Amino acid sequence: MTHRELAELAYSMLDRSYSPYSKFPVGAALLCADGRVFTGCNVENAAYGSTICAERTALVKAVSEGVREFVTLAVVGRGEDFCWPCGACRQMLREFAPNLEVVVGNGKKELTVIPLPELLPHSFGPESLT
Ligand code: THU
Repeated sequence: MTHRELAELAYSMLDRSYSPYSKFPVGAALLCADGRVFTGCNVENAAYGSTICAERTALVKAVSEGVREFVTLAVVGRGEDFCWPCGACRQMLREFAPNLEVVVGNGKKELTVIPLPELLPHSFGPESLT
């Protein structure tokens, strides 16, 4: 699957976003090592802090289905800037895929690719607990 194809799956999730408070829809698509793709969108809540981001929606969908090996994540929004993953999402992704390839997109459907270690250097992970 190409980066563009994965990003298009993420863009298709923007319409599923539940974001009445921020009015900032985010879509995600997570490519697994076995070729499956799990998608996600942000789901907000009247208690704002209970909101879950698009990337974490996709991740928990995958892990709860027994999938733990990931290759590429696409995360996109409709804004001018690229839709960079928030810190909490970077940390959650790092747990399972320290070398994940991350494709980010903006509202013009421009894409850029960055490895997760560049987004979260000197990160804390499972092996840090030994
Ligand atoms: N959001 C995501 O879905 N992913 C991110 O990595 C950044 C932020 C969502 C959360 C909230 O619903 C909206 O974007 C504005 O912060």
